[in-house]
Amino acid sequence: MNFPKAADSIYSISPYVGGDVTPAGFVRRVVLASNENPYGPSPLVKDVVKGYTERLHSYPSGAATALREKIAQTYGIDAAWIAIGNGSEDMLHLLARAYAGRGDEILIPQHGFGVYKIATLSVGATPVDVPRVDFKLSVQAILEKVTERSKIFFLDHPGNPVAHYLMRAEIEELLSKMPSHVLVVIDAAYAEYMENETYHCGLDWVRRYPNVVMTRSFSKAYGMANLRLGWLYAQPEILDPIARIRPPFNTTGISQAAGIAALGDQAWIDHCVGLNNKNLKIFAKQMQTLNIPLLPFGSNFVMAYFDEAQQVYHYLGERGLLVRPMGAYNLEKYLRISIGKLEELEELVEVLKTCPHR
Ligand SMILES: Cc1ncc(COP(=O)(O)O)c(C=O)c1O
Repeated sequence: MNFPKAADSIYSISPYVGGDVTPAGFVRRVVLASNENPYGPSPLVKDVVKGYTERLHSYPSGAATALREKIAQTYGIDAAWIAIGNGSEDMLHLLARAYAGRGDEILIPQHGFGVYKIATLSVGATPVDVPRVDFKLSVQAILEKVTERSKIFFLDHPGNPVAHYLMRAEIEELLSKMPSHVLVVIDAAYAEYMENETYHCGLDWVRRYPNVVMTRSFSKAYGMANLRLGWLYAQPEILDPIARIRPPFNTTGISQAAGIAALGDQAWIDHCVGLNNKNLKIFAKQMQTLNIPLLPFGSNFVMAYFDEAQQVYHYLGERGLLVRPMGAYNLEKYLRISIGKLEELEELVEVLKTCPHR
């Protein structure tokens, strides 16, 4: 039969494989596969979602005005510089659609977050890998890949699954040298977890450089991955094309109201980030004791090396512990383990002790 065909570039996309994949024989008891906040959202968010029954028949605010104002107030920025999306990945796709097309190049860090490549190929642009050395990105390696045809550079900041990030001074250097025709997208989905002084999320770079934008997520520290909410911070001239192509109601009233409630409870974020960072340190030490090498870490997951990663993945999954295999990122010998509750991580360590494949 003759079916209508999509563009060739669409067929070159490998569909995103998420943490919901559960092979036969696996039990989804402890899920450490999607870098979620195991403590969930603020109780205020849960109350808002439970109570949201009156306005289900009406369209949400397409411009998400109240949420944008709340974000603006929280971060001391201008609401006119903010756009809201169905998760921050929505913003990554919208940026690619608005700013790149056939014949253009989009720079992506090697082993970068999978959506960057999907967004690039969906608009017919060419993904250009920026190589890492020892899993680290460098300003020089990025600039070497820039051409006249480069339209976007997706900077994972910090990265997932490779947690490395460019330090403040390195980004300063990068932005001072990056040609102004390249839009630098600072993907700061994990920013709330970053307590290190060398990390800077990029708010003032957006103010200083018209070709710099930042994306943020409510899916990680805010514990709202299921509500699909993210935002983009950019100068109004950069937001203009986004406003023209954005699906008019790309977020629901429930998630907008939940976002406002979440921003009103910063104590909850501090609490969750504190627990995460404590659990991360304890877990990393336990993994060290088991002689399991880890890549440098820092947000809410670790990358653990195993000679027989696939067997370890199955051994854990069959015992109710779901982690994330990294074949899709050409890192077949690694498993990504999200920082769950301490008791979950301790159970994982106990099971690893009995695993014949590590
Ligand atoms: C680096 C990075 N950016 C963006 C996202 C997208 O998050 P969301 O669309 O849930 O906001 C993720 C999700 O895992 C991520 O790891």
